[in-house]
Formats: sequence, C-alpha cells, structure tokens
Amino acid sequence: MSAASTSRRILHFLILFYLLCLAISTSDELQTLLNIKTSIQSPNADVFNSWKPTNPLCNFTGIAYNPDGSINSIDLSNQKLTGSVPFDSICQLSSLETLALGKNSFSGPISEDLKNCIRLKYLDIGNNFFSDTVPDFSSPSQLEYLYLNSSVFSGNFPWNSISNMTGLVVLSVGDNPFDRTRFPNMMVSHKKLNWLYLANCSIEGKIPSEIGNLTELVNLELSDNYMSGEIPLEISKLLKLFHLHLVKIALDPISRPFWRISAGRPKKQRRRGTGSGSLSFPDTSGTFLNKLWVSLM
Ligand SMILES: *[C@@H]1O[C@H](CO)[C@@H](O)[C@H](O)[C@H]1NC(C)=O
Ligand SMILES: *[C@@H]1O[C@H](CO)[C@@H](O)[C@H](O)[C@H]1NC(C)=O
Ligand SMILES: *[C@@H]1O[C@H](CO)[C@@H](O)[C@H](O)[C@H]1NC(C)=O
Ligand SMILES: *[C@@H]1O[C@H](CO)[C@@H](O)[C@H](O)[C@H]1NC(C)=O
Ligand SMILES: *[C@@H]1O[C@H](CO)[C@@H](O)[C@H](O)[C@H]1NC(C)=O
Repeated sequence: MSAASTSRRILHFLILFYLLCLAISTSDELQTLLNIKTSIQSPNADVFNSWKPTNPLCNFTGIAYNPDGSINSIDLSNQKLTGSVPFDSICQLSSLETLALGKNSFSGPISEDLKNCIRLKYLDIGNNFFSDTVPDFSSPSQLEYLYLNSSVFSGNFPWNSISNMTGLVVLSVGDNPFDRTRFPNMMVSHKKLNWLYLANCSIEGKIPSEIGNLTELVNLELSDNYMSGEIPLEISKLLKLFHLHLVKIALDPISRPFWRISAGRPKKQRRRGTGSGSLSFPDTSGTFLNKLWVSLM
C-alpha cells in the first residue's frame, strides 16, 4: 500500500471517528455518564476532568464504545474513588459488557440494580470496602470474569446466583469475611473456570473429588480456610494447573498420602507437616505446577 493511500485511509478513519463522537454525544448515554460522575465522589481523582458535556464522549477517560456508538466498557480501576457505586445509573447502559471498578475505596451496599446489567461479561469490584453482603444477582447471567476479592463483603455469599453462569472463566471471591460455609459443590459444573480464588473466605468441609472435573484450572487457591479431610486424588487430573495453594487448611495428613509429586516437579514448593507418599501428576510439560504450596496443620 502506498503512503498516500495509507494516509487517505487514516484520514477516512479519523473523519468516521469524529462523526461517531458527534453522534454519540447527543445520545441519552451522555446524560447517564454525567449522572454517574455526579454520584461518585472522587476527592483526589482527576479522572472525571474529561467527562464534560462540551467534550466529545469518545474523549471521556475510561470509556470504550461498540462500533454502533453505544457504551461497551467502563474502566475506572485504581482511581481513589469513594462513595457507593451508582448501579442504578450504570445499569441503564444497556450494552455495557465490562465494568471495572477494582482497587478503589467504594463502600456501602451493592444495590439490587446490578441485576439490570444483563449484558455484563466482566465485573471487577474487588479491592474496595463494601462491608455489606453480596445481594442475589443471578443476572447478569453471561458473566465470564467476576472479581469480588478483598472487598470486606460479609454474611452469606449467594452461591446460587452464580449457578447459572456457566461461562465463568474467573471467579475470585477470596479475602472476604463471609460467614462460614461448606465448599460450594455447584462450582464443579463450571467447566470453563481457569481461575478459582477462594482463599481466606471462611470455607469449611472437604474439597470435593469432582474438583477433578475443572480441567481448565490454572490457578486454584483454597488457603486460609476451615477445610478438613483429604486432598482428593482427582486433583491430579488438573493437567493445566500452574498454581495450587492449600496452605493453612486442616487437611488430613494420612488418610490418603499425597506428598511426593512424581512428575512435572514444581519449580517452587513449600511443604510442611508429616505426610508421606505420593500424588502422581501425569504431566511432563515442564510449566505444570510452577508453584505448589501445601502445608498441614
Ligand atoms: C480529547 O481531549 C484532548 C485533551 O483534552 C484534546 O487535546 C483533544 O483534541 C480531544 N479530542 C477530541 C476528538 O476532541
Ligand atoms: C483480586 O482482584 C483484583 C481486581 O480487583 C485482581 O486483579 C486480582 O487478580 C484478584 N486476586 C486474585 C488472587 O484473584
Ligand atoms: C437457572 O436457570 C434455570 C433454567 O433457565 C432457572 O429455572 C433457574 O431459576 C435459574 N436459577 C437461578 C438461580 O437463576
Ligand atoms: C484474610 O482476609 C482478611 C479480610 O477479610 C484480611 O484482613 C487478612 O489479611 C486476610 N488474611 C490473609 C492471610 O491474607
Ligand atoms: C464430572 O465429569 C464426569 C465425566 O465427564 C461426569 O460423569 C460427571 O457427571 C461430572 N460431575 C460433575 C459434578 O459435573
């Protein structure tokens, strides 16, 4: 392609982009964004400086669009934002697929309006200070990525809400002071999961042997809970596992021996306790089980 035709194409693209900006600036979604801006308190954040009616919408920080000009994504992670999350306004954006609000100082309850965000595929509200329960939220049912970790959520986690989210790839709810609960066995039917972070969130009872069905798992962390019983042998079916973290849970040392890893030796491992025997991982790929942290209490 000649330089001239390349620059013509770039010019066409810029004109299209500019027209798109004008088109969406006149939509209801502008008003919705301005409502969101008003509801969120942001003492130090200058992230909203660009969110002005006089500025083209496509110049708003943290917003991304679909080809038709509707809003696809809001990313306001790590911006020192406070106050409660205005899900009532946010979930009026009917094409919204990504909402990333992690690593802020949001607090207050998660409102029931979350269920109106029916298109969401990615929800990150982790690393905040909600200090309340997680409401029932069976819709958005198409969620693939769900981060609620380390956000001071309490009470019972509504496990039923995620039973229909069969597309889940990442589920991270650890580091929250939930009420004690048994391992949510329904998780084992979420076969696309590759990241399951349930450390330090008051889970008790056994690791179910069906965990071996989650063959896409790369990361499995169950540390710092109240679990007991044995590590099921079926864990050795998780051939993609890269990081297995089971520290500080009261597993049975001896009911089934699991100590020696006979293949795919982890690069880093920390073992403690009195167990002996072997758990055979039939993988030889070399990257397998990069980190294995297991200890007995
Ligand atoms: C977007 O904002 C920047 C800085 O505020 C400005 O320089 C630029 O011209 C704006 N772009 C459009 C398309 O208005
Ligand atoms: C915790 O949530 C953040 C996003 O808020 C994410 O980046 C991080 O990976 C999560 N940690 C774990 C261990 O899942
Ligand atoms: C899951 O889906 C089934 C069938 O669509 C429905 O009957 C059930 O109420 C749903 N469960 C939840 C918790 O939404
Ligand atoms: C467990 O989670 C609590 C918050 O619920 C946090 O304060 C604590 O540091 C976490 N413990 C570990 C070992 O990460
Ligand atoms: C686990 O996988 C096996 C074989 O694919 C299947 O028969 C079984 O029903 C699955 N169990 C669960 C709880 O999904």
